[in-house]
Amino acid sequence: MKIVIAHPNAATGERWCHELSQRLPQAQVRSWPTDCSEADYAIAWKPADDFFQRLRIGKTLFCAGAGVDHLLRLPGLPAQLPLVRVEDAGMGIQMVHYCVLEALRVHRRDDDYARQQRERTWHELDYESPAAFTIGVFGIGALGAQVAQALRALGFTVIGYSRSPRELDGVRCYSGDTGLTEFLARSRMLVLLAPHTPDTENFFNQRRLAMLPNGAWLVNAARGALVVEQDLLAALDCGALAGATLDVFHTEPLPTQHPFWTHPRVRVTPHCAAATVIDETAAQIAGKIEQLERGEPVSGLVDRRRGY
Ligand code: GLV
Repeated sequence: MKIVIAHPNAATGERWCHELSQRLPQAQVRSWPTDCSEADYAIAWKPADDFFQRLRIGKTLFCAGAGVDHLLRLPGLPAQLPLVRVEDAGMGIQMVHYCVLEALRVHRRDDDYARQQRERTWHELDYESPAAFTIGVFGIGALGAQVAQALRALGFTVIGYSRSPRELDGVRCYSGDTGLTEFLARSRMLVLLAPHTPDTENFFNQRRLAMLPNGAWLVNAARGALVVEQDLLAALDCGALAGATLDVFHTEPLPTQHPFWTHPRVRVTPHCAAATVIDETAAQIAGKIEQLERGEPVSGLVDRRRGY
């Protein structure tokens, strides 16, 4: 069995090869680019544009991360090739921590207290019950559902929005156009955790950002493409939004001249909210390869029409 690993970072690619070879000793595991033009399985993260022209993948392509948007956009992706995404594998807990950190910072007015300290001001700000601070989670799939439950366990009122109707314990879930209006109007903090698809691209434009309550906070830990950056800047500049925590951007790395870097209401992190945990993910993928070799179905199969 031949497995090819394609990762833009050569050292990371080598780690993947090592982890996979340990778990599937019978397989020939190679790091891309290799001298082979065929493989049974490939595991890829943002491979070069000519990847599918140069490699024929016989059985299944695995994405080395949760979001498969980069692979679906790549020229020459064979129409019938099954594509499988990572399911949690250590990402959920990272996403929970990232979003909880932001929720607590905003709710406990961390920025205000930091400013007061710089000014040597001793002043206790008003406290609001977390139940009165509603957090909206846009995208309640594998990661979003975990984030919603963790925020709920901290006493926040949590609401969710998904493309198709869903149910989550203790979380009011919305879907559809009418659902969106109420969902956004209630979200004092909006956490984006939906995939980048044709439906979500530039979804958060001027009109939809204006549907949030005045002074809301945006957290984008999904994909930069979900938000129209100029519209977000305008909403921050006029104070309609109190702030934004952004982990993902239209262009990554974020260009050094980009206004987000120095904007007083923006917190920037370098797409680190939830990294692929290589050993856990390799174990998950190796397990799925074994299932496929036995002729069994696997979970995490991407529906190309939905885009995730
Ligand atoms: C990271 O952004 C991922 O999709 O895994």
